[in-house]
Amino acid sequence: MQRTSISLADFREITGTTISERVAGYYGWQSTRRSDGTWAYDKTLQSAPLPVSKVVDGCGRRFEGPNYCSQDYLSLASHEAIKEAAINAIQQLGVHSAGSSALLGNTAISRQLEDELADFVNYEHLLLFPTGWAAGYGVIKGLVRPDDWVIMDALSHACLQEGAKAATRNIVSVPHLDNEAFEKRLARIRASHPHSFILAITETVFSMDSDTPDFHRFLDICRSYGAVSLVDVAHDLGCLGFNGRGQLEIQNAIGGPDILIGSFSKTFASNGGFIATKAAATKEYLKNVLLPPDFLKCSVANPSRNRASGASYCAIRRWRPASRTAVQQQLVPAFAIGPEWIHLSRRAVRYCAGISGRGRAGAGAVAQSVKPGCCLEFCRVSGSRRQQVADQDAGSKRPHECAR
Ligand SMILES: Cc1ncc(COP(=O)(O)O)c(C=O)c1O
Repeated sequence: MQRTSISLADFREITGTTISERVAGYYGWQSTRRSDGTWAYDKTLQSAPLPVSKVVDGCGRRFEGPNYCSQDYLSLASHEAIKEAAINAIQQLGVHSAGSSALLGNTAISRQLEDELADFVNYEHLLLFPTGWAAGYGVIKGLVRPDDWVIMDALSHACLQEGAKAATRNIVSVPHLDNEAFEKRLARIRASHPHSFILAITETVFSMDSDTPDFHRFLDICRSYGAVSLVDVAHDLGCLGFNGRGQLEIQNAIGGPDILIGSFSKTFASNGGFIATKAAATKEYLKNVLLPPDFLKCSVANPSRNRASGASYCAIRRWRPASRTAVQQQLVPAFAIGPEWIHLSRRAVRYCAGISGRGRAGAGAVAQSVKPGCCLEFCRVSGSRRQQVADQDAGSKRPHECAR
């Protein structure tokens, strides 16, 4: 049967001896899609990433409409108090931290952010990274050696998969959220390698399927077989749970994992990432021995970014729990896929594919990579309800107290 549709995936394998031979086929296909108006990528914001945004799409058309793509789960990036905090930080310390945090790159602001976030996630020590990606990749590459083992949920984020591949060939992938399979595989590794270091990796909320592991079981299994647990909290820290501590809070498992990694790019109105550990030794070793200083380069301590994250953290922490429960109530039903949910998802996916017509800003990378009919709970929060919730909370005056 003749195939009618071609996708980006068809161009992953490339051949040829020159660069142009290797990429020309792809470029021809992309150019045709741009010229016939069906290229769904490369959208550019012309306004702040608001629930309704102005956008130029990848074919050069201007749109204004609901934004189901930008990752700004609580709309903090455009909150007056957060902007003011970032501007004050620039006035105080300039726009650049001028060095790796392993050298002279830290500022009083980045230190403060490390301390505050450590307290928030309930770990003793926290190390900032330039991005969540660098944190995930860096901690695995930094701690795992070729003879060690990594066992990870099959849908773990690319930064975790790539970190594992860069560190060892001993990687065991576990069917998504399947704690029984996880236990069987871990038991097998432990039986054949009684003295090996084993790192077990999962996430609190998986971005593509918006589901979550049973953490008590996961952590029990890790303890039983002497595996070190690493959990990525990028998607729910700050926006889920009564106090904003995400699924670990909801499942009463705060402090359970040995190591957390997280990102500021979803809820904390900035770029950046972190790892949180219980032992100062892990943080100091990673920072000074296992990772080259470039990993912790200048942008780690960028004053305005850190201030934006810090002010967001502060706003999240001080918000009335009742308001956060409202966010949670809007999110949690998404975990059980229901008709409204599926309907919303499909609509969101249509927007991002650019086929629902003009007047839609459409989504972008996130929605483009999500399965239709599956889960886009963050699209829900990114849409108008997100603004509603942010407005409600802003009304409590508390965020203004955070413009330090
Ligand atoms: C689960 C997960 N971890 C880590 C990251 C990387 O975060 P950042 O955008 O800060 O690089 C992402 C980003 O999409 C993510 O979804």
